[in-house]
Amino acid sequence: MVQDAKEQGIYPYFRPIDRSWGTEVEVLGRRLIMIGSNDYLGFTHDPRIIEATAKAALRWGSGPGGSRFLCGNLTLHEALESRLATFVGKKKAVVHATGFTTNLGAIACMLTPQDIIVCDRENHASIFEGCQASRARLIPFAHNDAAAAERKLATAVQKNSTGVQLLITEGVFSMSGDMAPLDELVKLKDTYSDLLIYLDDAHGLGVMGQGGRGTAAHFGLTAQVDFIMGTFSKALASIGGFIAADDEDVLEYLRHHSKPLIFSAALPASNAATVLACLDVLDEDPGRVTRLWDITRRVHQGYQEIGVITKHSQTPIIPIYMGAEDKAFAFAKDMFDHGVFALPAIYPAVPRGQAVIRTAFMSTHKKSQIDYVLEVIQKLAKKHRIRACDLREPESFLEGDEFSAKNPSGPGSAVSMVNE
Ligand SMILES: Cc1ncc(COP(=O)(O)O)c(C=O)c1O
Repeated sequence: MVQDAKEQGIYPYFRPIDRSWGTEVEVLGRRLIMIGSNDYLGFTHDPRIIEATAKAALRWGSGPGGSRFLCGNLTLHEALESRLATFVGKKKAVVHATGFTTNLGAIACMLTPQDIIVCDRENHASIFEGCQASRARLIPFAHNDAAAAERKLATAVQKNSTGVQLLITEGVFSMSGDMAPLDELVKLKDTYSDLLIYLDDAHGLGVMGQGGRGTAAHFGLTAQVDFIMGTFSKALASIGGFIAADDEDVLEYLRHHSKPLIFSAALPASNAATVLACLDVLDEDPGRVTRLWDITRRVHQGYQEIGVITKHSQTPIIPIYMGAEDKAFAFAKDMFDHGVFALPAIYPAVPRGQAVIRTAFMSTHKKSQIDYVLEVIQKLAKKHRIRACDLREPESFLEGDEFSAKNPSGPGSAVSMVNE
């Protein structure tokens, strides 16, 4: 499939970006409007944040010099942990070098083969990798379906009532932009008193809740969510990840047993300083989050007027339904030719045959950029016949949420695309 797409000149991935201004990038000598980035608050180009990043590199050097366990643990990491814990409303946090390794390390070391993981089918690949590494019993449930989660949980507990039960969901799903029904999922704790909730809020942090405190804060359920995991690679303009909880003993255990934390290098100081600076700016200027939501509402309305299908998204991640993968590739290529950078999400990142163009918006997008993007999408939606009125059976997309159980690497993996 990669080869075919390359031969047809529509292969959209690994595009080398020469330069970035945040909402615009330069590719192959052309300046394009970026509507695919996870830099939701536009912090990557904020001069205050860049200055903090540079200052930290000057003070601490460019690399960490080792894993945190050995000689790479900086006071800056610890300051960041305590700041993050306060930010999301938990007692303690542990920082890892990426979001991926946070999920991988934390989930793998906290569970044993006797335990049960009830996991939304559309969770990120890093979650599935953590689940597999834990060797706990993995039970996926239909996306965002709390009733399905309860049914799976009931059967699993009946068979094995001795282990830990962990329910894992994202706060805002990375491809669909769907918000988790966190209130319904947390309610399962009323029946299953030992149930623990693990929230991956990679895309909710900085976006959801008051001052960007995340999806648990949005629902007012911070105390009921046992683990809040987040990444720095989205709204927090850096790279890295953390897991926060009120149970300090579990986090202390995790600090000594998460393999990527012990056996892989620490987050560089400059990346930690970036996140601290983002949190400072967020505290000073919560208007950034409000602006992001103003833009989000404007785009949702624009898409609705154009008539494209965006499924259930209510967030700044807004997928435009394409259906066939080659259609999504051709659409992305046409967008590129019109000066707009956005990428297709295909199976297994989304259900088979339900490719989308994943669009994502930033607090720093200008009105003129949004107007131009909507103009291009309107023109191309008509040309490629992807409006609801052009499609014979859009309902199947709206209802479908099953991934193939045969996908060995779990949703989010690129493996099947390369193999097919
Ligand atoms: C939901 C979710 N969790 C975890 C990750 C991994 O985070 P990172 O890219 O910071 O390693 C991502 C990144 O794509 C994600 O979308």
